[in-house]
Amino acid sequence: MKIIQDINELRSTIRAWRQAGERIAFVPTMGNLHQGHFSLVDVARQHADRVIVSIFVNPMQFGPSEDLDNYPRTLQQDCDGLTAHQADAVFTPTPALMYPRGLDVQSYVEVPKLGDHHCGGSRAGHFRGVSTIVTKLFNLVQPDVACFGQKDYQQLAIIRQMVTDLSMPIEIIGVPTCRADDGLALSSRNGYLNAEQRAIAPALYQSLQWLKAQLAAGEADLRALEQQTKQRLQEAGFRPDYLNISNQLTLEPAKLASEPLVVLAAAYLGATRLIDNIEI
Ligand code: PAF
Repeated sequence: MKIIQDINELRSTIRAWRQAGERIAFVPTMGNLHQGHFSLVDVARQHADRVIVSIFVNPMQFGPSEDLDNYPRTLQQDCDGLTAHQADAVFTPTPALMYPRGLDVQSYVEVPKLGDHHCGGSRAGHFRGVSTIVTKLFNLVQPDVACFGQKDYQQLAIIRQMVTDLSMPIEIIGVPTCRADDGLALSSRNGYLNAEQRAIAPALYQSLQWLKAQLAAGEADLRALEQQTKQRLQEAGFRPDYLNISNQLTLEPAKLASEPLVVLAAAYLGATRLIDNIEI
């Protein structure tokens, strides 16, 4: 697997693949790769001749009080995993390469509305950082397809909207969430949990499943269900950030149980913020 650190080498690699008539799939990541990321690589492989992954801990999507400096960086281990999953190349730029003039003067991409609630409500500027870096990476890699995890449901919706709004000729593929045997969604942030917190963590997905079962049983008061589910999370030991029953398309608060629904949740265990979601 080729490890690419500069833009000229990236462009010449992509050019050679294009000249050979090959289809290119792209998997953007922030590294510290786990089975969830590798499943994105495996799906990408099914859609293209070449798979390229980026590893870049994007400072633009972290708030001032967030874990940018401590975000786990495990490049060697990541490259070993990507080699095992037959990625063709990994692009590992530095912040100076991606933001040479600094973040304060960087042009940005912002998708309106879809980022207003949920993670966008509690992480100001986060989705602007995501849309901007994904646009830059798309412009560099110019893939035919790109894969994103459904665990980051709101991120996936925003990227789909951005690609449509800005007429980017890229097919976006959402890949189902990978879970541990006890249901916990795989995430780089799970590594921050101590043993006691790790034992509590599956209650997040269990609470979402409980909510889904209540809807299936005919409960129609969505706001009451949100409150009851937050209460369950609190009783399990979480500090809920948000738990919203939303419309799958707009991500606005759902009004009726008959709409296409998704439940989006974020909750803290100590300082670690976990997210998950369930479609109804
Ligand atoms: O999902 C992530 O890991 C990041 O938000 C992404 C899409 C790689 C952009 O930095």
